[in-house]
Amino acid sequence: MKRVAILISGGGSNMVRLIESMTGDHPARPVIVGSNDPQAGGLEKARALGVPAFAVDHRAYKGDRVAFEAALLEPLLAAEPDILCLAGFMRVLTPGFVARFKGRMLNIHPSLLPKYPGLHTHQRALEAGDAEAGATVHLVTPELDAGPVLGQVRVPVMPDDTAETLAARVLVEEHRLYPAVLRRFAAGDPRPVMLDRR
Ligand code: GAR
Repeated sequence: MKRVAILISGGGSNMVRLIESMTGDHPARPVIVGSNDPQAGGLEKARALGVPAFAVDHRAYKGDRVAFEAALLEPLLAAEPDILCLAGFMRVLTPGFVARFKGRMLNIHPSLLPKYPGLHTHQRALEAGDAEAGATVHLVTPELDAGPVLGQVRVPVMPDDTAETLAARVLVEEHRLYPAVLRRFAAGDPRPVMLDRR
């Protein structure tokens, strides 16, 4: 059984879907949820699902990313995770942190990577006139949003979309994609998960 830790920064809807998926014959179980924001709504949701949750406020470290990450690592490593899932975790991690979880840290990003790494993905897709958008789960490497793709889901862009309506349509599909990718990854199956909107 693989042990899964999840890092969040906000509401944690993807985190909830990941936790809910890890039951029965699933090859993994959630062991801990962490956040860089003590106010993250997802922390209480994790606890309500029976998963311990903690926060390390990045603002207390005043830009010292290494010290912040050292504090984050303490409770994280104590939970002895095999796999680390970033689920709406909005801090960029240093190469040193990434190296600790080499080949076993996943991230979900709201674009069809390699298009639109970084922020404001939906606005950028709309401004480019793209006919489709989507989300990607990838392995985390030191370069931002650039690791090997483990899965993707595509959704159509509608003519009257705003960044908000497009984000909501993509998020629904993220909830399907991330659990599917985690299940395969935890089982040691290297095939990427490629989904189309139902
Ligand atoms: C999701 O859309 C996720 O793809 C995105 O943040 C949202 C978190 O929602 N992640 C990033 O932008 C990472 N750069 P959630 O907290 O409800 O899961």
